[in-house]
Amino acid sequence: MESIKRRTHTCGELRAEHSGETVTLHGWAESVRDKGGVMFLILRDRYGTVQITLNDSCGDEAWTDAKATRLEYVLEVDGVVHARSEQAVNQNMDTGAIEVIASRVRILSRTKPLPFQISDDARASEEVRLQYRYLDLRRRPLQNSLMIRHKAALSTRRYMDAAGFYEIETPILNRSTPEGARDYLVPSRVHPGHWYALPQSPQIFKQLLMVSGMDRYFQIVKCFRDEDLRADRQPEFTQIDVELSFATRELVIEIANGLVREVWKDVIDVEVGEIPIITYAEAMTRFGRDAPDMRFGMEHTTLDWAGSEFQVIGRAVEAGGIVKAMVVKGAVEGTSRKVIDGWTEFVRRYRLGGLLWGKVNADGWSGPLSKVEEKYRAMIPDVEVGDVVLVGAGPAAHVHAGLGKLREQIARQRELIPANTFAFVWVVDFPNFEWDEDNEIWTSMHHPFTKPLDEHIGWLGTDKMGDILSDAYDLVCNGYEIGGGSIRIHDAKLQAQIFTALGLSEEEAKDKFGFLIDALQYGAPPHGGLAMGFDRWCMMLCGTENIRDVIAFPKTTTAQDLMAGAPNLVANEQLDELHVSNVVTSKEPSDD
Ligand code: AMO
Repeated sequence: MESIKRRTHTCGELRAEHSGETVTLHGWAESVRDKGGVMFLILRDRYGTVQITLNDSCGDEAWTDAKATRLEYVLEVDGVVHARSEQAVNQNMDTGAIEVIASRVRILSRTKPLPFQISDDARASEEVRLQYRYLDLRRRPLQNSLMIRHKAALSTRRYMDAAGFYEIETPILNRSTPEGARDYLVPSRVHPGHWYALPQSPQIFKQLLMVSGMDRYFQIVKCFRDEDLRADRQPEFTQIDVELSFATRELVIEIANGLVREVWKDVIDVEVGEIPIITYAEAMTRFGRDAPDMRFGMEHTTLDWAGSEFQVIGRAVEAGGIVKAMVVKGAVEGTSRKVIDGWTEFVRRYRLGGLLWGKVNADGWSGPLSKVEEKYRAMIPDVEVGDVVLVGAGPAAHVHAGLGKLREQIARQRELIPANTFAFVWVVDFPNFEWDEDNEIWTSMHHPFTKPLDEHIGWLGTDKMGDILSDAYDLVCNGYEIGGGSIRIHDAKLQAQIFTALGLSEEEAKDKFGFLIDALQYGAPPHGGLAMGFDRWCMMLCGTENIRDVIAFPKTTTAQDLMAGAPNLVANEQLDELHVSNVVTSKEPSDD
């Protein structure tokens, strides 16, 4: 077979100044228009598209293969660049000022009938596109996402290097790491019955690197978590993982802010200004969420309606609950009972029993809130004629969650979210522990290596466990948690105390994290760090709400790779070798 020529240019780079040049191009036929005596091919590669023209000046070498070309055939084209006349310039194409008059067209590769048309807008179902991901990745928006992802990684590495961080790899075959999700396990062949866990994060190893005196570490690293998937979660995902010695929260935040600014500027030319810092308590009060979307208002107000005779309120307050209001400005018009019923249905998903609503009309209030005493209604700030007021009452967690999610839902419905805006915020002072009602134990809100605030350490093991705040911080952008970390415990005794408070016996703690506890006894420096959700950063940078858009070969929400067909059943011989018995025969994913 004849070998290919070396291309002289890519499909995106020819301009008017190249006219007269003889060129060789390679690419896919994105469009084929045969008008008899003239033929137009649009040739596409990663760099762009260019028009190839055949006319009566072209000989057989051009026409024979051109006539046989179908969409997505791979071609080699020789030709001469011609500037187009002014009227013929195509403003929608970077190469629209020229066309290439072909002297030779050669088909390098043919295609079977395509499962879907390769076009910028994804018309085929995501399932089919994931099955043929290599074709889906030919689409420009996805090629652009991967380019942005590459640039973001490059920019990160440049910034971290300049700030004195070394990129150090940590093991993938591991002991279990505690980030709260289930582990992916890998059986050991040489140690029957023993298993490796894939890292949920490099947390322990990066802390050990601080004990080693590496001072500043980072890594762009794959993490694995077997958890329920959502639009912003994948079972394997990537973190920009960071740790530094002699760190204060302020220093970690300063370095992280610098990284955000550098990447946003470098990759999408956006200046990120000051990033505000709010406490967890403030985030919950104002937005009902610890990852608030601050691109729009509709903030919540907590109401002291303790004396109200209104039954629903009275009952909720008596049971120790809270009352919160949210005002939807100018929404009286267009907010039908059906809309309100929809909102009520919506908050019930978050275990809020219902919504009290009121419409503020020119002649007074209507709806259930009109029955609440006037003096209590007057406590809701910023209410004007034309507004719809929504009140939730019940256990704090349910009110926050219900109204918090509803705030975002209404903002989407009413198109209150400005486009191309990035609202970053740091959330700090998280509770260190959460009460796990089902198992009746305290669990770590972040992970067990998070240092409580100094002034709260004395409360460990007392009835004030729930009030202990941690030196942890999350970075949020547009309502997504895009990073998080903490100052760590570097004192072995305090670490042991935390394990005890979490109900881990000395033996269990030793079994799970013995090597870390040991290491902390050999001169561990004070240290802290954080991890950025790199895929979520790329979602922000690409302006997509679907994490699969920024990952070359993603998994579905049922953790499958539809193209490769993973996970798959394996041969019994392979399992035998790994000392694992094959008990599952079902092909359906389990809900468990
Ligand atoms: P955390 O568990 O908060 O912290 O993870 C850090 C960031 O990683 C992203 N993230 C995910 N992205 C996609 N899919 C997932 N399944 C997923 N899970 C998490 C989020 C999150 O903010 N070791 C600590 C960090 C530290 O303390 O330094 C950790 O992993 O954006």
